[in-house]
Amino acid sequence: MKILVTGGAGFIGSHIVDGLLAAGHAVAVIDDLSSGSRDNLPPGVPLHVVDIVDSKAVARVFEQERPAAVCHQAAQMSVSRSVREPLFDAQVNCIGLINVLDAAAKQGCRRVVFASSGGVLYGDVTSPAPESTPANPVSPYGITKWVGERYLKFFATEHGLATVALRYSNVYGPRQNPHGEAGVVAIVCKKLLAGQAATINGDGKYIRDYVYGPDVARANVIALTGDLPQVQPQTLTSLNIGTGIGTDVNELETLIRAAVATTLARHGHSATLPQPLYGPARPGDLRSNLVDAALAGQVLGWRPTVSLTEGIAKTAEWFAEQAKTG
Ligand SMILES: NC(=O)c1ccc[n+]([C@@H]2O[C@H](COP(=O)([O-])OP(=O)(O)OC[C@H]3O[C@@H](n4cnc5c(N)ncnc54)[C@H](O)[C@@H]3O)[C@@H](O)[C@H]2O)c1
Repeated sequence: MKILVTGGAGFIGSHIVDGLLAAGHAVAVIDDLSSGSRDNLPPGVPLHVVDIVDSKAVARVFEQERPAAVCHQAAQMSVSRSVREPLFDAQVNCIGLINVLDAAAKQGCRRVVFASSGGVLYGDVTSPAPESTPANPVSPYGITKWVGERYLKFFATEHGLATVALRYSNVYGPRQNPHGEAGVVAIVCKKLLAGQAATINGDGKYIRDYVYGPDVARANVIALTGDLPQVQPQTLTSLNIGTGIGTDVNELETLIRAAVATTLARHGHSATLPQPLYGPARPGDLRSNLVDAALAGQVLGWRPTVSLTEGIAKTAEWFAEQAKTG
């Protein structure tokens, strides 16, 4: 099966590309490389450097590639940028999504899988939130993920697509961009590998549900290609993808510090890594957010397989290799 992955040169998208290729599928990628990189893609994968806001360019890629299914990962994904520039956020996350859905419908694609977010839809929750939790997005980014699911439902009903929204919790792993404000694991890994202290916002007692990128990619591969009785034409299926396990930033930093120390020792550098610094709390940061992925277990047969300790060790090793190669 040929699958078009938008945002395929990004963190999660490139793991999806790897998963699809490993399962024997053909893949093409749309990415404007605004935060993604060609280096994340294996050689030979067709990369169309296109902005999804450009409807004509998106349509041309679909005409050329004729995919059977689409995996939509491309997005403006900074919450703070969405607050500063709500118009830009809506252009990429709403108009861009509509361009992709429109082209998918016109080309007769059968399935569309969309990267949604449990964090921004459910807000502050102290126990794992099921999909039935009322959505209450507060940032423009959260609003566009919520509206995005409504557009999926519309295109499913109107054009007969089978659509799946995967509501990720906090995804981490190799290839995550450490330069933004999200991706705490990537940011802390990079700081500690450079011998610098990580800065924790507020008291660090902010609980999140960390799920490993390649596990998330596997959920996408199943949603795109699996023989799934509940994923039928004209339907939207919304599924949480996370572990349901809460970890606060203080615990997370301790885990990362241990993993980075082990990694550095393996590379022949033993160092005492600095303790974290504490900075001001970030306004609007949720105290606690975690998702219940039981439904994804039923519909996709998916469950996370990589523990946080194991995933952080692999991530620290990847960032150490990156630092070595410059
Ligand atoms: N990382 C997380 O914890 C998380 C959580 C919930 C949802 N998500 C969603 O998962 C998806 C992938 O996120 P990620 O963490 O891999 O981020 P990422 O920034 O690594 O990936 C996004 C990709 O989309 C591309 N892109 C951005 N704007 C584009 C445009 N206008 N046209 C074409 N390509 C464009 C970027 O270059 C990048 O390669 C996003 O939709 C994001 O909102 C991520």
